[in-house]
Amino acid sequence: MPAEDEEKGEPMTDLLELQNVSKTYGGLHALASLSLTVPRGQWLSVVGPSGSGKTTLMNIVGCLDRASSGRVVLDGVELGGLRSRDLTEIRRNTVGLIFQKFHLIPHLTAVENVMTAQYYHSMVDEAEALAALERVGLRQRAAHLPSQLSGGEQQRVCIARALINYPALILADEPTGNLDADNEEIVLEIFRGLHAEGTTLIVVTHDPTVAAQGQREIALDHGRLVKEVFHGR
Ligand SMILES: Nc1ncnc2c1ncn2[C@@H]1O[C@H](COP(=O)(O)OP(=O)(O)O)[C@@H](O)[C@H]1O
Ligand SMILES: [Mg+2]
Repeated sequence: MPAEDEEKGEPMTDLLELQNVSKTYGGLHALASLSLTVPRGQWLSVVGPSGSGKTTLMNIVGCLDRASSGRVVLDGVELGGLRSRDLTEIRRNTVGLIFQKFHLIPHLTAVENVMTAQYYHSMVDEAEALAALERVGLRQRAAHLPSQLSGGEQQRVCIARALINYPALILADEPTGNLDADNEEIVLEIFRGLHAEGTTLIVVTHDPTVAAQGQREIALDHGRLVKEVFHGR
């Protein structure tokens, strides 16, 4: 990238770059020299059998874990050399995480669960948290506890929580794995809206219908990239 572009503050083209990234657990290669570049605004699906390294990849990109070797550059920052607190800061500012298990705090209401994300980021702002719930169609459920919400609604609270800081990158690890078809479609519709707004999405899934929603689909096997398909959108 020419220096003058950076001086003008223009966004760099690629949001994420992995070069020869490995993650080892003892002798096991959860990721084996994986290289991957994700342009800004891309919707990338990640598929592969259980144990192929999908969650390991998400954890490293999401700044929850570190690579054993290789280079990871997220939003222009190389993660490898960062101290833990700086890694945490990047996670809070740049990444929104959505998991298969909802990880909601059971004694907090929907809006309070969304506000936990603000608490770490900046000021707690209930109006902003309610606006995030509105975006996922749950404004009317703000005062409900997780136990008073359906699975689909709980996942939408998690999405609202992930959206609160307007992350450049959404990482979703099997986000529809626990949902029925109707709720899966609601979640996909939210993702389509985020994609239309320019958010970069990386979505791990076992479901071919969900995978086909991405512009690009990669498959992992034994920590390696074994297949890549472009869905032509
Ligand atoms: N904390 C860990 N300690 C040891 N092995 C791990 C750990 N996390 C993942 N693994 C191993 O790394 C491989 C990839 O796991 P994972 O990334 O969770 O795969 P996937 O999400 O594709 O099912 C698996 O063989 C798994 O057992
Ligand atoms: Mg996994």
